[in-house]
Amino acid sequence: MSRPVALECESLSKHYGGLLAVQDVSFRVYVGETLGLVGPNGAGKSTVIDLITGVQRADRGRVVVDGRVLKGSPSHRANAGGLGRTFQHPQLSPDLTVYENMLVNVTARQLHSPAGQIRSLLRGLLRPTYGQAEPEVRRVAADVGVNDVGRLCSDLDLGSMRVVEFARALAQRPKVLLLDEPFVGSDAATLEHVTAALTRVREAGCGVILVDHNVDLVASIVDRIVLMSGGRVVFDGDPAECLASDEMRRVYFGSRRAHT
Ligand SMILES: Nc1ncnc2c1ncn2[C@@H]1O[C@H](COP(=O)(O)OP(=O)(O)O)[C@@H](O)[C@H]1O
Ligand SMILES: [Mg+2]
Repeated sequence: MSRPVALECESLSKHYGGLLAVQDVSFRVYVGETLGLVGPNGAGKSTVIDLITGVQRADRGRVVVDGRVLKGSPSHRANAGGLGRTFQHPQLSPDLTVYENMLVNVTARQLHSPAGQIRSLLRGLLRPTYGQAEPEVRRVAADVGVNDVGRLCSDLDLGSMRVVEFARALAQRPKVLLLDEPFVGSDAATLEHVTAALTRVREAGCGVILVDHNVDLVASIVDRIVLMSGGRVVFDGDPAECLASDEMRRVYFGSRRAHT
C-alpha cells in the first residue's frame, strides 16, 4: 500500500554566484511523518527550507504539497499552501503579546479562504473573526505548555520564544510543519514540551521537517532522516541506519571508517 505524501521536493537546485548551495535535491515527507533534515554547517539545509517556503526562488525543481505545486510568496504558501514554519532566529513581534502574535496567524488563515473574506466583509472588518479565533489560540498555546498568553514577547527568553513560534505555526493548522533548529537555546522543559507537541502533530496527520545539526537528538525523535552534504542528499532512510552508515562517517569525520 502506498502511503499518502504530504510534501515532495523534486530536483530542487539553487546557486548563489558560483556556489551550488542546493543541487538536485529530491525527497518526500509522508502524511503523519516526522523527517529529520540533517548535515553539517553549510550543507544546504536552511536553503532547502527557504526554497520550500518561497523565501528564495529555486533555479530548478518544484515542491508539491498535498498534490499541488507550491507557488508565490511565503505568506501565500503558508495560508493557501498549508505550510507552517519556525525560524532559526525567532521572528515574533516583540511589542505584541503571545496571544496577539498567534492571533495574526489564525486570522490570516481564516481570512485567506474566499468564504472567510466574504464573511469578514459582511460582518464589518476583523472583529468577529478575532472573536472566533480566541478559543483556538488559547487551546493551541496550552497544548505546548504556554499558559500565560498575555506576556509581551520581548519579555521571553529564547527557549520560550521558540515554543511560542511553534504554537503560532500550529495555530495555522498546517499540512506540513517546517522547524529550523528548534532546540537551540532550549532547556529540558522546553525540549519536552516541543517533543510532546510533535507527537500530537504527527498523530493529527501533519508532515514535519525537522532541521537540526544535533544528529543524535534528531535520530531519537524522527521517523526518517535525510542527510545532506555539499548541497546534495547523501542518505535518505532509517535514523539508526543513517547513524551507522558510511555516508554519515564520511560527512562528519571525513573518512569511510571512523575507527581506522
Ligand atoms: N543568501 C545567500 N547568499 C549567498 N550564499 C548563501 C546564502 N544562503 C546560503 N548561502 C550559502 O549556501 C550554502 C548552504 O547554506 P545553508 O543552506 O545556510 O546551510 P545549512 O543550513 O545547512 O548550514 C553555504 O555555503 C552558505 O554560505
Ligand atoms: Mg541553517
